[in-house]
Amino acid sequence: MTRVAIIAGTGFDQLEELVVEEELSGGTRWGAPAAPVQRGSLAGKPVLFLSRHGHRHEYAPHAINYRANVQALKDAGATAILAVYTVGGISAGLAPGALVVPHDLIDYTWGREASFSEVDNVIHVDMTTPFDNGWRQRLLDAGRACTEPGDPAVVDGGVYACCQGPRLETPAEIDRLERDGCSVVGMTGMPEAALARELELPIAAIALVVNPAAGRGGISLPEMMNIAAAGRARILRILAAAIHG
Ligand code: HPA
Repeated sequence: MTRVAIIAGTGFDQLEELVVEEELSGGTRWGAPAAPVQRGSLAGKPVLFLSRHGHRHEYAPHAINYRANVQALKDAGATAILAVYTVGGISAGLAPGALVVPHDLIDYTWGREASFSEVDNVIHVDMTTPFDNGWRQRLLDAGRACTEPGDPAVVDGGVYACCQGPRLETPAEIDRLERDGCSVVGMTGMPEAALARELELPIAAIALVVNPAAGRGGISLPEMMNIAAAGRARILRILAAAIHG
């Protein structure tokens, strides 16, 4: 059976809200994904779910087997991927709590297995629109429907910078990302998005800003926890609303 897949990381390592029907614990030709793909339903919508870092958050961003994660979703029958990112806000308007549906990205990572290409099977995917416009629009429509007075708006468009991690960036690095045109920064969007394209899986993402990026202001840990919890609940509502059956 085919289903939309949700892949999510920090703050979503365990998805208690998912009604699990089946756990698909097999490996892939690229190795084991970070966790078994779960087939189930979220607020009544049929979904596949994969915990990007593993259920115990055991894999750091640079140590995730992205090829196995994306292949496992494809093998499980995914028709599209909705990715959830936790990010730092670079642009002045993107304070903690903001939700962004990025339209583009820049990959600053290195040393990750970033392609399914092999000898005699060289793949050059088009990355003109790294995030699928149809699914972006669904997320934005769902975001509007799930916005209550006082909630930060769901921002249409932004450039996601994928940094290597697991350390956070220096202020000078964030200044450089801003000069490059990036609005938010995370550690896991790539090569995930490119691999999804290689397997012809449309992918779109929703990013929750949990902290101002380095040099852009501070935030206390309790404040960040509150923002992450509120954002998590809102994102799950948006994801379910974006999946039309
Ligand atoms: N930088 C990189 N990744 C992140 C950040 C950040 O500030 N916040 C959450 N993920």
